[in-house]
Amino acid sequence: MESTPGQNDIGAPTYFIRTFGCQMNIADSLEYATVLESLGCVPGDSEHSADILVINTCSVRAKAEEKAISYLGAAVKKREEYRGRPGRPHSGGIAFVGCMASVRGDEIERRFPEVRLVLSAREPDRFEDRIISVFPELVSAVRSDDVHPLLRPVDSFERFVPVVRGCANRCTYCIVPSARGGTIRSKPPDDVFSEVEKLIGQGIQSITFLGQNVCAYGKDVTNEWAEHKPGYDFADLLADIRDRYSSSGAWFKFLTSHPRDFSDELIDVVAGDSSFSRGFHLPLQAGDDEILRRMARGYTSQQYIDLIHRIRSRIPEMRLTTDLIVGFPGEDEEAFGNTLAMVRDIGFDSAFTFLYSIRTGTPAEKWADPVPRDEKKRRLQKLIELQNETTKKRAESHIGEIRWVLVEGPATGSSTPGNDFYAGRTREGEVVRLPGGPEDMGTTVEVRLVEAHLRSFTAERICIEPRG
Ligand code: SAH
Ligand code: SF4
Ligand code: F3S
Repeated sequence: MESTPGQNDIGAPTYFIRTFGCQMNIADSLEYATVLESLGCVPGDSEHSADILVINTCSVRAKAEEKAISYLGAAVKKREEYRGRPGRPHSGGIAFVGCMASVRGDEIERRFPEVRLVLSAREPDRFEDRIISVFPELVSAVRSDDVHPLLRPVDSFERFVPVVRGCANRCTYCIVPSARGGTIRSKPPDDVFSEVEKLIGQGIQSITFLGQNVCAYGKDVTNEWAEHKPGYDFADLLADIRDRYSSSGAWFKFLTSHPRDFSDELIDVVAGDSSFSRGFHLPLQAGDDEILRRMARGYTSQQYIDLIHRIRSRIPEMRLTTDLIVGFPGEDEEAFGNTLAMVRDIGFDSAFTFLYSIRTGTPAEKWADPVPRDEKKRRLQKLIELQNETTKKRAESHIGEIRWVLVEGPATGSSTPGNDFYAGRTREGEVVRLPGGPEDMGTTVEVRLVEAHLRSFTAERICIEPRG
């Protein structure tokens, strides 16, 4: 019997999602998977065999865009080969979505006829309608809401909940406001609560609230949330989360915080309840006041340092991580030195370091930038070396400490039978390898940190030995 091209034994159309970029994209991809499954699609094995290939893209730096384009090019080729008959139109096709679809969607549509659907990250809610109208031959007209797709094993224990979309800041290097919208849209608190409740009911152990600037939550709302107090903000949301769900045992994290909007109330709410992660990610970007002003970050180096002091005095164990950009236009040796000095003084537990990447349409695109790329690379290398040293020192200072780890799955490169290592994350956000087995997945295990590596720890389990 001849089967319909691209369809599986049970005749259902298949989908495959490849996600680039940040946690917001991961959250959107899970939502897209839910939509596809509710329309009758089932997960496919690969990008070339699935009827609908969804590529969810990132535009934050040139490299992120290059990755998506080369993945798309390779997928187009492989899909042609897989069909066995080049040029033959087949059912299904490629959906190119996310931030790059917002800023370079037209170009992609022109260059790649295989791309049948382009959807901007500004309108993720239109995904369902667009899929139905572009792939009517594949999807079912009857929607079922009882589906629980997973993209990777960790999704079964840890979820992201977007609470505010878009970004009203105008950091002069950044594409995100164009890609995701330059005004913010906050999710009503009651919708956040029902989402959290549902996830906890499903056994989710760790929930991360997301926003490009999560601290801006509620600032777009004047009087629509009448049942909540006026000026209801992110600290209020977290306080409600604490009151309602802290007894559930789930952990709560949030990303990304903007240092200018990080309030004392927020510090207090987190300090007062151990269900909140002891890990804050606070992008500094640069440690030089003139560069911070040119980036339009809205704080000075001193204001940032004061914030770190307020956090550390309230929550001394807080793990602090950051983002840094090297080679922004106008950064001279002295400005770079100020960033190095600040990074040294603060002592971040870890940092993401980026070489400045010119983004089309941003204010900084046209700014004079006389520093050669090789020099910028040298600076980046120097910063990475300093941060690696700091990361190592801070990690070593934690040896012997006790942590709870949410075990996600087998550690990579561990295959000795009887001596298996599993990996997971602590409430603080550290990656930990520990001896374990499949029965540990999705559970929280108490461990002692015994060895520090650059990006992770090895830990031993704390077991209470039965006494004879
Ligand atoms: N909303 C978050 C993160 C945005 S993107 C925030 O406000 O911090 C994540 C990180 O990418 C940023 O913190 C910044 O360090 C980096 N980044 C953004 N645009 C960049 C660019 N044009 N070149 C290099 N790095 C960039
Ligand atoms: Fe970009 Fe700045 Fe908004 Fe972050 S706060 S997303 S860096 S514009
Ligand atoms: Fe990239 Fe868009 Fe996230 S540009 S970092 S996927 S918001």
